[in-house]
Amino acid sequence: YGDANQKVDYVFKVVLIGDSAVGKSQILARFARNEFSLDSKATIGVEFQTRTLVIQHKSVKAQIWDTAGQERFSISSSLLLLLYRAVTSAYYRGAVGAMLVYDITKRQSFDHIPRWLEELRNHADKNIVIILIGNKSDLENQRAVSTEDAKEFAEKEGLFFLETSALEATNVETAFMTVLTEIF
Ligand code: GTP
Ligand code: MG
Repeated sequence: YGDANQKVDYVFKVVLIGDSAVGKSQILARFARNEFSLDSKATIGVEFQTRTLVIQHKSVKAQIWDTAGQERFSISSSLLLLLYRAVTSAYYRGAVGAMLVYDITKRQSFDHIPRWLEELRNHADKNIVIILIGNKSDLENQRAVSTEDAKEFAEKEGLFFLETSALEATNVETAFMTVLTEIF
């Protein structure tokens, strides 16, 4: 995790998106610092963290952006809509990877994925590498989205797909490596 005096060959910006409370910030905390918190607070504004890894003998600095997943599809005031568009464009600008996260125990968070995908396709680069992530796989007994449904959706949309647990550190590393290696 320490990347103090490493020379950096590439910087890749990756954005995290998905409904509120699906675990975006904890996935990032797990990846960037190997930390996890059960009483994680909702993100306000935009935050980012970096971690430098070696991929195919090159040092790659992953710059991961995280923002609030708060409902923002029903904005009606046109002034707010302009602001929303400006902020959204800035968030996606220069991003080469995206992690589209839902919570396997919250059906609604999966049902909203097409909207997030639309936002991505409206604001991000056409060649952005996207991975669909079903987080909280440790809560198998509360599962509300089957792995098959998600896999099928991902295949149809041409996305990578993995189920992760930020809590148990399952597949978090693999998810980031999948995106970063594909960008590479
Ligand atoms: P916003 O910032 O509001 O968009 O939410 P978020 O997507 O960043 O969610 P956050 O990472 O803050 O996590 C929300 C809640 O889910 C917290 O209580 C986390 O501890 C919990 N959580 C996150 N990941 C996992 C996981 O893999 N398993 C379990 N059981 N809980 C998780
Ligand atoms: Mg957050």
